[in-house]
Amino acid sequence: MTTMVAFEKINEAKANLDDIYNQPDPRAYFQELKKLDYSIPNNAKPVFQKLIADLKRQRHHTIHVLDIGCSYGVNSALLKHDLSMDDLYEHWNGEMLADATPEEVIQRDREFFASLQEPKDLEIIGIDQSRNAIACAEETGLLNEGLAINLETEPLPAAAKEGLAPVDLVISTGCVGYVTEKSFERLLPAVTRDEQPWIANFVLRMFPFDAIEETLSEWGYTTEKLHGQTFAQRQFASVEEQEQVLEHLVKRGIDPTGKESEGQLLAEFYLSRPAKEAVAVPLDQLVLA
Ligand SMILES: C[S@@+](CC[C@H](N)C(=O)[O-])C[C@H]1O[C@@H](n2cnc3c(N)ncnc32)[C@H](O)[C@@H]1O
Repeated sequence: MTTMVAFEKINEAKANLDDIYNQPDPRAYFQELKKLDYSIPNNAKPVFQKLIADLKRQRHHTIHVLDIGCSYGVNSALLKHDLSMDDLYEHWNGEMLADATPEEVIQRDREFFASLQEPKDLEIIGIDQSRNAIACAEETGLLNEGLAINLETEPLPAAAKEGLAPVDLVISTGCVGYVTEKSFERLLPAVTRDEQPWIANFVLRMFPFDAIEETLSEWGYTTEKLHGQTFAQRQFASVEEQEQVLEHLVKRGIDPTGKESEGQLLAEFYLSRPAKEAVAVPLDQLVLA
């Protein structure tokens, strides 16, 4: 069984949120996810900030981040600006924007993000299969560049390769499970042309990371999981979803007691770095210092 088929089976246990991923503006995304207290970008933010700070110290130049499954530029909004998920939920509040057209929403977003301070030494490129989300993220200025592509099914276009060469850090939240090692196989030749990027994934505990880890190891990467820490992704959408997810976890030999059994989907953090760098400073030291 391919990883995609295996992941599709696991995804059947989860509520299907596909409808909100490709709307002409971010309102539905934030309104629906607010109901589920979707919080993984917020919980990932301090970890990503640490990694970016470390890379800045080591590399002495603008840090280029590639966000896989970036949607409307969610991680970018949090990392470039002093914003939280609650701020974004308030910004895209349903009642306040009920009568606005998508064009009006995007215009308002562009003005809002332009009015905020932005670090000069951080650029964020995003990849997502959703054309609408990528178009919005580019138009609002949240992404420096967006690639609307599904690397599970299509190769990276030659024109995109040049722009990915400077990437220092690859990140993802809420995306592994939709993407597999296939996407990484297609990205690695482009992102490792200059300095090798670090690769930082927050992954729901129900999705095995071993196939991606194996692919990355073929490119000289060592992957470490942050032990003893889980990160809340969102609340379960229903009792049925919770029961199905718990079943998958138990099948994987993972005990959900006191964890997912309490009502939230939980992610773990994996960092993949060139082997030498991983040996020099272990993950715990890097992230928890
Ligand atoms: C749960 S959302 C997470 C979005 C964002 N990272 C966040 O945490 O708010 C999953 C995202 O993955 C995207 N996605 C699903 N399959 C994909 C694929 N094969 N390639 C790229 N993006 C994909 C969806 O369009 C959606 O934007």
